[in-house]
Amino acid sequence: MDLTVYLSGEYLSLEDAYVHVEDRGFNFADSLYEVARIYNGVPFTLDRHIARMEQGARTIHLDYGYSPDDFAGIVDNLLAENDLSEAFVYIQVSRGRAPRAHPFPEESHPTVFVMVKPHEPMSWEERLAGKTAILHPDQRYEFCDAKTTALLPNVLACQKARQEGAFEAILMRGRWVTEGSNTNAYLVRDGAVFTYPLVNILPGITRSVLKEICSEANIPFVQKPFTSQQLKEADESFVTGSVSEIIPIVQVDSEKIADGETGPLTRQLIQLYAERVEEECGLYTPQQR
Ligand code: PDD
Repeated sequence: MDLTVYLSGEYLSLEDAYVHVEDRGFNFADSLYEVARIYNGVPFTLDRHIARMEQGARTIHLDYGYSPDDFAGIVDNLLAENDLSEAFVYIQVSRGRAPRAHPFPEESHPTVFVMVKPHEPMSWEERLAGKTAILHPDQRYEFCDAKTTALLPNVLACQKARQEGAFEAILMRGRWVTEGSNTNAYLVRDGAVFTYPLVNILPGITRSVLKEICSEANIPFVQKPFTSQQLKEADESFVTGSVSEIIPIVQVDSEKIADGETGPLTRQLIQLYAERVEEECGLYTPQQR
């Protein structure tokens, strides 16, 4: 399938979209990225993704020179051009091409890449059956709150999970569970949702939506660290991300969470999340299958 993408001012075929070998994104992972879902042709929470990228850009002192409206316009153009409605958008901005040297180049020409790609949503049945996870040390680094592309430790952790037949690697820093390799992680205990506080973890957009949903439904949302043992002894567990949405975790390493089935609170949150998408995008597509 020939996909039209956006690269630094040009709309071109994905096949012709190249960045230079001296791009600092390639050399140093000196770049940021965002991934957001598009339902029914409507981007979901794109404004929050762009705001997080602006925050990350301040953290790493990157001025990429595009406004939220610029990105919204590019995404709309790509959706129309590629005739997509069930999709996700991937945005990456880097400090651009410069002779390889650690300090920032004096003159910077950021690379800005935007791509929308078709997405096949997980079926309602597959989601509600739940998935498994493994525990893994969090080997990322001290800027986990900026969505930088320095993802190698996360890639290795996720790969290990998949090789062991699990869906996600849930990361540990010391004795605390922090987040997933590409998701935020939660446990449910006595009707309350627990998750790691926003300290050197990725401030997930889905996490922020979930927090609002919990508040509206009078479900306590507790931002407090928990251990792997507490996770294994929880009533329920799940992970969240923009593309994966809410995925129940029914087993961690070799231990089942409670009875090993998706729990009632997780089901309720999945339903409320679908309703929230419907409010903003008109339709929550997996439900229609
Ligand atoms: N990953 N934690 C990490 C380390 C992540 O990479 C992600 C998202 C999340 C969830 O954030 P959000 O709800 O904003 O998607 C948490 C994206 C989807 C990815 O790398 O593809």
